[in-house]
Amino acid sequence: MSIKPKFYVKDLKNHVGEEVTLKGWLYNKRSSGKIQFLILRDGTGYVQCVVFKGNVTPEIFEAAEKLTQESSFEVVGKVKAEPRSVGGYELDVTDLKIISIAQEYPITPKEHGIEFLIDNRHLWVRSKKQVAILKVRARIVKAIRDFFDSHGFTLFDPPIITPNACEGTSTLFEMDYFDLGKAYLTQSGQLYEESGAMALGKVYSFGPTFRAEKSKTRRHLTEFWMVEPEMAFYDLDDNMDLAEEFIEYIVQTVLNDCKEELIILERDTSKLENIKRPFPRISYTEAVEILKRKGVDFQWGNDFGGTDETIIGDEFDKPVMIHRYPTEVKAFYMKRDPENEKVVLAVDVIAPEGYGEIIGGSQREDNLDLLLQRINEHGLPQSFFEWYLDLRRFGSVPHSGFGLGLERTVSWICGLEHLREAIPFPRMIYRNTP
Ligand code: 4AD
Ligand code: MG
Repeated sequence: MSIKPKFYVKDLKNHVGEEVTLKGWLYNKRSSGKIQFLILRDGTGYVQCVVFKGNVTPEIFEAAEKLTQESSFEVVGKVKAEPRSVGGYELDVTDLKIISIAQEYPITPKEHGIEFLIDNRHLWVRSKKQVAILKVRARIVKAIRDFFDSHGFTLFDPPIITPNACEGTSTLFEMDYFDLGKAYLTQSGQLYEESGAMALGKVYSFGPTFRAEKSKTRRHLTEFWMVEPEMAFYDLDDNMDLAEEFIEYIVQTVLNDCKEELIILERDTSKLENIKRPFPRISYTEAVEILKRKGVDFQWGNDFGGTDETIIGDEFDKPVMIHRYPTEVKAFYMKRDPENEKVVLAVDVIAPEGYGEIIGGSQREDNLDLLLQRINEHGLPQSFFEWYLDLRRFGSVPHSGFGLGLERTVSWICGLEHLREAIPFPRMIYRNTP
């Protein structure tokens, strides 16, 4: 015998006039003596179930009265189109069964402090706004996969346990690895993707990455998801063309497929509709000029902080691609600009509306000697990078790639204030529960 629901709220539009059975939880309720209005949620939507005393047995009416917030129940009723009701449909209840009466639910419609809500994240994910965010996140994940799968890329999964750093040694999560000494949680799959690109041409990875970020900003998690395409025979311009097409695709897909969610999130969608190619491209040096013009005391050669990124981003109503950063502030694997060795062929994409960097990428150093020199300059142990250097020893080619942070992207598209709502269970410097 199966108990799985035959109908879900999202399908009601196809069953107007029919009697259906729904299963779910009580989101909210109102009553006025003879009539009770129960809002049922089942993960696919919300529907008002109308229990009229005259239509049901006294037992059924009483069962409805017993339902507390988040109690689970099964309800039978006739589907009616009702434009004034949440979701546009209503159920005229003929039967109702309690599945489990919920204890006093900690999250009520009143305002709660953010710490309380995150303490109760396992319950908070049931809230309307959180459900909407998580649906958009899932849609973005699918858009990311669809994009690369349909553009000639092969999924190439890098390891999560790694013997060395990729993005600098200051944000590594360390562990003891049997008799082999220290190992680390991956900060980025990029170095492995490069070997994949030499095997398969165009590859991508998509999974969790880890940074022991000491910063408590609203833009940093210690565990976040990153998608990392890597392409053989792509230079910096090809890389930027791809990043631009990719971002446009994600945003336009969400606009098209997540209309209801964006309404629930009260997102100003006009700002997103505008996210169409081409995006502005400026050099780091030009970005520094913008800062200076805005009265920021900024020295050429420094890295941009969050506030600097916001100021630069505010100049544009689309993501801005900043390229050619000073060699000193960027990673060892980035290729030096043959026309100016003070800068590397890097690109960061800064989202509009103050959401900061969503993409970091570059053309990679493909010359064996220059790469070796950079590894030494960065004080990295050459022995760990021998396999990576092999990619330059055996048929080296120009190649490029980038990493897009999923939570930063979700946060921007949903218009969130903080990254912690963009992932089911956020991990931050001061929080690893629930
Ligand atoms: O700029 P990052 O550090 O670049 C890399 O890791 C490259 N190896 C990627 C590549 O070229 N394959 O990180 C890429 C993106 C950032 O732009 C940001 O969106 C996100 O990852 N990110 C974070 N998101 C949340 N919390 C953090 N602590 C993040 N650090 C980076
Ligand atoms: Mg970066």
